[in-house]
Amino acid sequence: MLDKKLYIPEHVAIIMDGNGRWAKKRALPRTIGHKFGAENFRKITRYISKTGVKYLTLYAFSTENWKRPPEEIEGLMKLFHQYLIDSLTDFKDDDIKIVYIGDRTAFSPSLHKLINESQEQAKDRKGMVLNIAMNYGSRDEIVRAVKQLCNEAKDGKIDPDSITSKDISDRLYTGGIPDPDLIIRTGGEMRLSNFLLYQSAYSEYYSTDTLWPDFHEEDFDKAIIEFNRRNRRFGGV
Ligand code: IPE
Ligand code: IPE
Ligand code: MG
Repeated sequence: MLDKKLYIPEHVAIIMDGNGRWAKKRALPRTIGHKFGAENFRKITRYISKTGVKYLTLYAFSTENWKRPPEEIEGLMKLFHQYLIDSLTDFKDDDIKIVYIGDRTAFSPSLHKLINESQEQAKDRKGMVLNIAMNYGSRDEIVRAVKQLCNEAKDGKIDPDSITSKDISDRLYTGGIPDPDLIIRTGGEMRLSNFLLYQSAYSEYYSTDTLWPDFHEEDFDKAIIEFNRRNRRFGGV
């Protein structure tokens, strides 16, 4: 358990990477890695909600992940189905509010419907906000915000010369949510892979070689301890 004296970031985002490598190490198919990854998602989310984090954003599927082999995509969609059904009852005791970010229209109609239902039935919960990024891409998100602003300008609802960075933030999927304080990436890569590009301007980045299915409570605690050592200056001194 975390030392009570530590500062708990308000918004933590996690790039849940390394499921495929986790499976490969065990000579298992990649989809089994995703299965263990999904199980870990459930456990660690509960733990994080108890630490006092107010917003948790998890990267589950990117706009580029459609490039993967059809059997892997099929396995992932089956898993999403199962976890979405479970989410209808899951996280209730922890009062976790589930929000989906990303373009959900690209999913099958049944998956799309489940996403809407899962979000709807959790909408009045008062605990941690869990943003699940599914078919999420930050460039796609920024393009959508720009299109929206252009249309508003065309309709005379906004003056182009008065547009501020807040106007852009408000039109992102994460509109109204504070920027992430800490971005954790498992699996060792040192890149954002199209995740929260606009929102991460001053986020602290933390990378661990631990693969996602192995990322447990103590690994999260380590990231929080490291975050507490950082000196955030936001351009000041
Ligand atoms: C992350 O694990 C999960 C998704 C992108 C859906 P990966 O599947 O990318 O695992 P590695 O990076 O190949 O090990
Ligand atoms: C990022 O991981 C996306 C998710 C974790 C959902 P990827 O495995 O897709 O990223 P790259 O391809 O290594 O950059
Ligand atoms: Mg990966």
